[in-house]
Amino acid sequence: MLKLYEAKNVGIALAITRLFRQNRLKNIDDENGHLFFYHYQPKTILLFMPFLKILMNRIDLFAEKVKNIKTVGAVDFTSKYAIQEMVERPEIRTAQCIIELGGGNGCITEGILKEMQQPKAQLLSFEINEKFCELLQEIKDKRLTVIEDSAEKMELYMDKKGIKQADVILSSIPVSIMPDEVVEDIFAIAKKRLKPNGLFIQIQYSLLSKKLIEKTFGPVDMSWVARNVPPAFIMVSKNIVSK
Ligand SMILES: C[S@@+](CC[C@H](N)C(=O)[O-])C[C@H]1O[C@@H](n2cnc3c(N)ncnc32)[C@H](O)[C@@H]1O
Repeated sequence: MLKLYEAKNVGIALAITRLFRQNRLKNIDDENGHLFFYHYQPKTILLFMPFLKILMNRIDLFAEKVKNIKTVGAVDFTSKYAIQEMVERPEIRTAQCIIELGGGNGCITEGILKEMQQPKAQLLSFEINEKFCELLQEIKDKRLTVIEDSAEKMELYMDKKGIKQADVILSSIPVSIMPDEVVEDIFAIAKKRLKPNGLFIQIQYSLLSKKLIEKTFGPVDMSWVARNVPPAFIMVSKNIVSK
């Protein structure tokens, strides 16, 4: 697929120089005192297409995050280390219903689905960003329902599905930059629709909402994951319901 050019005379050398300037020749080799030029044929470019596509998707996603920084609240998606810390729990393996708040690109969603073990278990993932919802829809798993709506509407969709309460709620919505009253609303609804002793798990980059989580659900068990950009706190609280 590589085409070889040998600079045998000045005319060819000049033509090659021109191609170089136009950026159509990429590599030079030196053999037996001759200069050889490699010209990438369109077929070679086809080989790189999958990588180019991945790169373009990444650039696209990054642009989407920057454009919506006020609602996304992060420069990168959650790392596999933080995801492990969030999802590797017996409560997720035995859960019949899990709610995810802020599905994003689906990185935590996929982690949850891998960990879920009950055949009839359901995962409802809420996400307000249209583009991220398209990505979430690409996860082909019958247990997953992607809901393009705000976490505040949790009850509406749970009622539609006949789900009274969830076993676990995992949240990666950017609570520290959201208005206090919205966060309080979402947490209050989450408490109402979370089973007694059910788990509420929040990933955050600061400790700003720790007190509110404690006040709403119960004592917080906290860990810190350095291998995340930025490093993150994982807060886990058991839903204490007073009788
Ligand atoms: C920090 S990103 C997390 C994305 C992904 N889950 C991850 O962990 O990398 C927060 C996500 O929450 C979404 N979001 C923000 N407010 C929301 C809300 N009220 N309801 C549902 N999703 C929300 C944003 O669009 C964004 O995709």
